[in-house]
Amino acid sequence: MKLCMIGTGYVGLVSGTCFADIGHTVYCVDKDEAKIEKLNSSQSPIYEPGLDELIKENYKANRLFFTSNLSEAVNKSDIIFICVGTPNKRKSLSVDLKFVYQAVKDIKKVSKGKKIIVTKSTVPVGTGDQIEKILKNSKKFTVVSNPEFLREGEAIRDFKYPDRIVIGSNSSSIFKTMKNLYSPLINKGSKFFTTNRRGAELIKYAANAFLATKITYINEIANLCEKINVNVEDVSLGIGSDLRIGSRFLRAGPSYGGSCFPKDTKGLISIGEKEKVDLSIVKSVVKSNENRKKLILNKISKILKNKIKNKKVSILGVTFKPNTDDMRDSMSLKIIPYLIKKGAIVSYYDPTGEKKEFENLSNCNFYMNINDAVKKADLIILHTEWDEFKSLNFNSLIKKRKTSLYDLRNLLNTEDIKAKNLEYFSIGRPKIN
Ligand code: UDX
Repeated sequence: MKLCMIGTGYVGLVSGTCFADIGHTVYCVDKDEAKIEKLNSSQSPIYEPGLDELIKENYKANRLFFTSNLSEAVNKSDIIFICVGTPNKRKSLSVDLKFVYQAVKDIKKVSKGKKIIVTKSTVPVGTGDQIEKILKNSKKFTVVSNPEFLREGEAIRDFKYPDRIVIGSNSSSIFKTMKNLYSPLINKGSKFFTTNRRGAELIKYAANAFLATKITYINEIANLCEKINVNVEDVSLGIGSDLRIGSRFLRAGPSYGGSCFPKDTKGLISIGEKEKVDLSIVKSVVKSNENRKKLILNKISKILKNKIKNKKVSILGVTFKPNTDDMRDSMSLKIIPYLIKKGAIVSYYDPTGEKKEFENLSNCNFYMNINDAVKKADLIILHTEWDEFKSLNFNSLIKKRKTSLYDLRNLLNTEDIKAKNLEYFSIGRPKIN
């Protein structure tokens, strides 16, 4: 089939490339001509493991095209996916849909024939209805919801092996067309699930809010574990082995971040407020996650015995999760400015390089390697669980210097860090020395 992806961010570019990789012809459109130029020289503007190669392969096979010419792409395609950004509005919880509605108006202006318009971006319940109104309920267009569930850093795998494909429409012929579109994945065992359009729109929000709830729940249990000398990883395993609970997304950490959980939990609350339904659990999740940030900062102060001025603190990993360069809502955006404000000297290392978010901070330096970053550190904070940190030899790293290590991801096994001069702290696990 011939597809048009409007927007070449995480969702549009990964989905478009993967659709090409399962045999479709895909036109990826973006208004940002520099981005399109980069893509046409086979350079991905986003950091996503495996994406560069997949783009090159499908571009070479003439299945994947990049253009700023919306009219050409729309009129060559049967199905048009809207994959533009849907950020929170600056001063409220609600979602800013200006990019979505602009894309719809652009499609309406240039489209010459019958089209299926699919919202793949995360959009509030009822957005499909609003889109139909913009299209003046024209018979030329059918509006469908098909939310994505891609995780950054695992997006290609999540596209190719989805737990489920969700289609929201009220037309059986649409279900047939979309089933045909996704048949290579369905034939490999992915569930194909249909509901009405609002149902599909809500499933996306409800899924992300539930995952954020799971994480927040184990984070609060971790707080209790620290008080009663219990290992939160045992609790996570002990409850997660119950198939009704499930073991994934039960890893305690510094708080959830990223481009979706913070945005979508607030977006869902806003939908509840609009419909006068009190989503008290989701509200408490957002509040708990915010409180956790303060709790982690207080713990850092305590580890430094509230004497932060002139202390050397080294941060290993600053992105919101591993295998991405995305800094959105990363806990490091709270930790580093806090330490600098308190007079610390901060060094940091991240496999994806220096971050613009910290470039204007005095006494904050990026290092290209771990050794230099941790030199003379009073405190090392393991912030992001990159694989390369799993096998660090702290004895050789810290040598004779008495150093504290705060492992925000419980990445290190307590046996691994029996380093003489190292005082080890983690999340929800009994202290070992
Ligand atoms: C999420 C959803 O997982 C995905 O389905 C949706 O399409 C987009 O949002 P993403 O934000 O890329 O994906 O990353 P994810 O792996 O879900 O992690 C989100 C946050 O939760 C990160 O800050 C991560 O560190 C944290 N997390 C995740 C935990 O603290 N513990 C866990 O067990 C899992």
